[in-house]
Parts: sequence; structure tokens; C-alpha cells
Amino acid sequence: MPRKVIIDCDPGQDDAVALFLAMASPDELEILGITAVAGNVPLELTQRNARMMCDIAGRKSLPVFAGCERPMRREPITAEYIHGNTGIDGVDAFEPDTPLQGRHAVDFIVETLLAAEKGTVTLIPTGPMTNLGTAIEREPGILDGVEQIVSMGGAMREGGNRSPSAEFNVLADPHAADIVFNCGRPITAMGLDVTHRVLSTRERVARIRELGNEVADATAGMLGFFHRHDTKKYGSEGAPLHDPCTVARLLRPDLFGTKACNLSVETQSELTLGHTAVDFWHVTDRPHNVHWAYEVDADGFYELLVERLARFGERE
Ligand code: BDR
Ligand code: CA
Repeated sequence: MPRKVIIDCDPGQDDAVALFLAMASPDELEILGITAVAGNVPLELTQRNARMMCDIAGRKSLPVFAGCERPMRREPITAEYIHGNTGIDGVDAFEPDTPLQGRHAVDFIVETLLAAEKGTVTLIPTGPMTNLGTAIEREPGILDGVEQIVSMGGAMREGGNRSPSAEFNVLADPHAADIVFNCGRPITAMGLDVTHRVLSTRERVARIRELGNEVADATAGMLGFFHRHDTKKYGSEGAPLHDPCTVARLLRPDLFGTKACNLSVETQSELTLGHTAVDFWHVTDRPHNVHWAYEVDADGFYELLVERLARFGERE
């Protein structure tokens, strides 16, 4: 039986690839809904981009919901300088057929989890955690329906990518992240320590492009755009492919090494706001609230991605 998932995202090229990877994996994952949040770009674009990806993947009946337009307590930040003005530069934007559902994403999350059997729904946040933090604050009882959370956010050894000490998703809504990381359900946290190892090198992007189907073309186009900015920033041979690590973890847990430890979010300091203090060496008595990902088989990850994206060609 496939695992029931809700993907909470802010597409974003890498969020888009995470959606494709999940859509290509119906034996393992049943997508109950895609919930969009403001993050890389404003909400009106992230929800449109999520619907575009459903169109491209031929999944126009997947329900897509728009959620929170701004973080829980802080002022919004965005990341057009990385993702381009549309959030998904590298593919041509269009108005998708996939409809936007009328319900607010937070209402969808609350109602779905309250109706679910105990411990049966997995949440996959790949953007700022505003929708989830708001849902938990409004109705803590929803947590009973949650099997686990596999998130992209935070950094330990890598330092920050948006401030010297903070990763973008956590910095964009540190208060929501604080609520989610302390919610008491099992969480696997994929931070920059692993996503910065999953590099979309020219060779890997070329392999995806060679697949020659529409989804692979869109993926290669978006990764090509990502490549330009991030390779300059990091001096690496390819841009990190952050968000699909969450879905890959669910499909192939063996690709990642994780360790149970405490993760606490800085919500006060102006200097280090959004920092994730990961107690990797267990030097405090704080409870182990996350499985922190610290190693990854990047070749294995790209093998999986290529194998799954190839499936879209089989229906063409
Ligand atoms: C995260 O921030 C966004 O730019 C990406 O989509 C990813 O979710 C990486 O820090
Ligand atoms: Ca994202």
C-alpha cells in the first residue's frame, strides 16, 4: 500500500523536481494534496508553479491548495535572486489547466489529518513551514494523524545559505519551524549538510535531458538555470538539489545516513535568527526531536531520479 503524503512546497525549481519524483512513484506514494506556501517567490506564483508541474506531469487531477501568504511572525523574505522572477526560471511559465482548489491549504491539512486514521499521513515540507506551523497551532490534535515528517530545512556543518548561520526555509519562518520541529512526531530533517552533496553536475543534467520526455526536459531546463547561480556562489561543479532529498528519503531510506539528536531553532537573535542548533554529539540533555541527515549517496540519488523521470516517457 502506498504511503499517504501531503507535499507542502514553495516551487522553486528544486521543489518542482521533488513533486516530479513523488508523482513518478505511485507504488510508494499516494499524494493526497499539494499545498503551496509563500517562500522562494510570493504565494500567487508558488501555487501557480505547483499547478504547472501537475500539468507537465500529466496529473491535472491532483488537488493543489494555496496556503499562507506570509510567515507566522516575521516579515516575508523571498529568493528571486536564486530562482528567477517566476521561481521556476528554466521552463516557460504558462497558465495551467490544473485547478486551484477553493479551500485554504491550512484548512485542507487540518481536515485531512483530523479525518485520517492514527499515524497514517506523512508530511513533506520543502519550503518555509508556515502552513504546517499554523495548522498545528490552530489544532494540535491533527498530530495524531501524522505518521512522520520529512523536511528540507536547516544546516549544521554547512552553515547558512541565506545568512551566515541560517538556511533559507528556516530563516523564512523560524517560528513555524520551531513549532514543527517540536511537535513530537517523528521527523527526518534533510538540511544543507546533505543537500549540498547532491550536486546537479553538467553530466547528471545531461543524462536527464537525454531521457527526452516532457518532464525530463522541464527538469533539465530548471536545473540548468539553477546551475548558473549556485555554481558561482559555491564554487562547486553543480548546484545543490535540495528538496527532492525528502522524497528520495521516503523512496530509498538507505541513500541517507541519519542520527537521532536535538534540533532547536533560534527565534530571537537578530544575528543568528533561523539558525538550527543541532546537538549532533549529544552534549545536552535536550530531547531527540529529529533524525538529522548527515550523509548521502549522491550517485545513488541521481540513479533513482533518472530511473523515475524515465517513467514519464513510458506514457508518451
Ligand atoms: C531551500 O530554499 C529554497 O531556495 C529551496 O527551494 C530549498 O527548499 C534550500 O535552502
Ligand atoms: Ca523549497
